Amino acid sequence: MNKKFIIFNWKMNFTVSESVEFSNNILKCLTNFQNNNYEIIVCPTYMSLPYSYQILSNYVKFGAQNISSLHGDKGSFTGEISAKMVSDYAEYVILGHSERRVNIPESNFEINNKRILALENNLKPIVCIGEDLESRNSGKYINFLNNQLKESIKPILKNVIVAYEPIWSIGTGLNCDLKKLKEISDLVKSKISDEAIFIYGGSVNESNIFDYLSSDKVDGVLVGSASLNKTSIEGMINKINGN
Ligand code: PGA
Repeated sequence: MNKKFIIFNWKMNFTVSESVEFSNNILKCLTNFQNNNYEIIVCPTYMSLPYSYQILSNYVKFGAQNISSLHGDKGSFTGEISAKMVSDYAEYVILGHSERRVNIPESNFEINNKRILALENNLKPIVCIGEDLESRNSGKYINFLNNQLKESIKPILKNVIVAYEPIWSIGTGLNCDLKKLKEISDLVKSKISDEAIFIYGGSVNESNIFDYLSSDKVDGVLVGSASLNKTSIEGMINKINGN
């Protein structure tokens, strides 16, 4: 069995000192979590990445939340952070999260550029896709997701990691049920490859994490809010351990 992924996306939370404190607070729980069936990936801000890495990297992997689309290495690009720079600490990078697609706004074209730069710099991209509520309710979401897949992942690599995070489920408590997820997992596998890794994100917490991780349609979860709190991290880990 392939390892299932548990990705903690800390988004724009924690100052450096807060992330040091938080990393120390969850250290024991993550140290005790010896389970070869799972890969935990922590994604702090760029600033906190080296600090949390020092505390937790013996027990978990690390990811960045973004990289520059302008260059993979270095250059005159004020304010940018390259794939190569984060690769000192990160093995993964989250790309095209809806919060970036909507607020920046980031295009499929840019996301694909970042994906290529990530691969060239030994980072494994986690490409996010997801429709909004209007698209879901109008029934146009399959076309929408298809287009995101087609434009953000070309050329196609067989074992690409795709995170399906419907916008209507992020931070809302409206998590997507397994029946709906099966449809999207099948879409991703048919459009990309059977070997594509399918992750779900959106209001994952201790009450539902194990249902997702037990499904043969889901290869992992991406957790936002519930990864910002020690009690809920412990709760999720306990659920996975069967407590
Ligand atoms: P959430 O966020 O778990 O708070 O819904 C998920 C995400 O945006 O990655």
